[in-house]
Amino acid sequence: MDFFNYNNGLLQAENVALTQIAEQFGTPCYVYSRATLERHYNAYAEAFASHPSLICYAVKACSNIAILNVLARLGSGFDIVSIGELERVLKAGGDPTKVMFSGLGKQAHEMQRALEVGIHCFNVESEPELYRLNEVAGEMGKVAPVSLRVNPDVDAKTHPYISTGLKENKFGIDIQDAVRIYKIAHKLPNLNVMGVDCHIGSQLTELTPFLDTFDRLIGLVDELAEAGITIKHLDLGGGLGVRYRDEVPPEPAEYAKLILEKVKDRPITLAFEPGRSIAANAGILLTQVEFLKCTPHKNFAVIDGAMNDLIRPSLYGAWMNIVPVSLAPTPEGVRTYDLVGPVCETGDFIGKDRDLDIQAGDLLAVRSAGAYGFTMSSNYNSRSRGAEVMVDGDKAHLIRARETIEHQLAGEQVLPD
Ligand code: LLP
Repeated sequence: MDFFNYNNGLLQAENVALTQIAEQFGTPCYVYSRATLERHYNAYAEAFASHPSLICYAVKACSNIAILNVLARLGSGFDIVSIGELERVLKAGGDPTKVMFSGLGKQAHEMQRALEVGIHCFNVESEPELYRLNEVAGEMGKVAPVSLRVNPDVDAKTHPYISTGLKENKFGIDIQDAVRIYKIAHKLPNLNVMGVDCHIGSQLTELTPFLDTFDRLIGLVDELAEAGITIKHLDLGGGLGVRYRDEVPPEPAEYAKLILEKVKDRPITLAFEPGRSIAANAGILLTQVEFLKCTPHKNFAVIDGAMNDLIRPSLYGAWMNIVPVSLAPTPEGVRTYDLVGPVCETGDFIGKDRDLDIQAGDLLAVRSAGAYGFTMSSNYNSRSRGAEVMVDGDKAHLIRARETIEHQLAGEQVLPD
């Protein structure tokens, strides 16, 4: 559930009309709802409250410091994949001791910074990464907390680009090889083996792959115990899907029920790294129709948002719901449109074959755009990235100013004469 609803035929974010936001901050613009974010985080926190657990929001989904700050205030931990994300978490007031550092290409300087601030755990993805971390920690006179990201070879049944738990994916350590590598980690003097980690994919709409993964990983935990290696936490990664169209993804409560039945009273902390299921439906992309371009073959609505603002449709063929901000009928009537941006690529579309009653100047909301929306935006075609706004009740706060051309050009220079 989210807090984007129509009131008297006008779409609102909580208690603020999106027309007002467009007037105040311009378009294209990302609009987030604080109440929705909080609701989604709390759904996880409450579902797992009966067992020691740590919910680490995956920063990559939506990393504005205002978003991170809202979650930090609720006690959220954070899953990061770069030092940039760590600095965001720190700036947002996040607790470094609740940070998991994922990602398969961590550089020495990133490890150093994470050790300096005392993160919860490094999710290590290869043997050479273990050696690097051991060395960096040793140089600093520290002991690094580690989990191995294990690849359980489970089919997440999702889009191939966002499926990560199969043998052929670049991620993690093959579960067959995990005990051997855990033994190496256990012997390295500057590492402290803490957990087992995995992440099998994103936008999962069934629980079975998570449950299969859990079974495989808990088997590994037992095997490690026999080898004298005690595992304190089991990190099941992120991946719970959301509804973009007609998917019926499980709620965190259903997920928790089945996992907790399996965990029983084992003395192991559970960790999760949800991104999409917290942020996606907490945000929309607000965009305006520039022109209606109707040809004998096709009707196009040319909008001011483009693939550089929201790349999911172009990159994954993702279907995103596009709705008019005002439900008032227009003189144009209902037509079937492709919604395209001004970028010079045929692949620049946000939606295809949509029946809409719109006219030039109308505002549209692209729903469920809070996750992997702004964070995947770019300056392609030298377009300045849009503003980000967070609505909190009846107030709209600018949380990232629209970029200017000066922002874009800062840092560039021509060769000397
Ligand atoms: N943990 C790790 C290690 C991850 O790689 C990811 C996402 C997550 C957690 C969070 O997963 P979530 O709960 O959001 O599914 N750009 C794609 C999604 C890429 C996901 C990458 N990893 C999209 O727009 O669909």
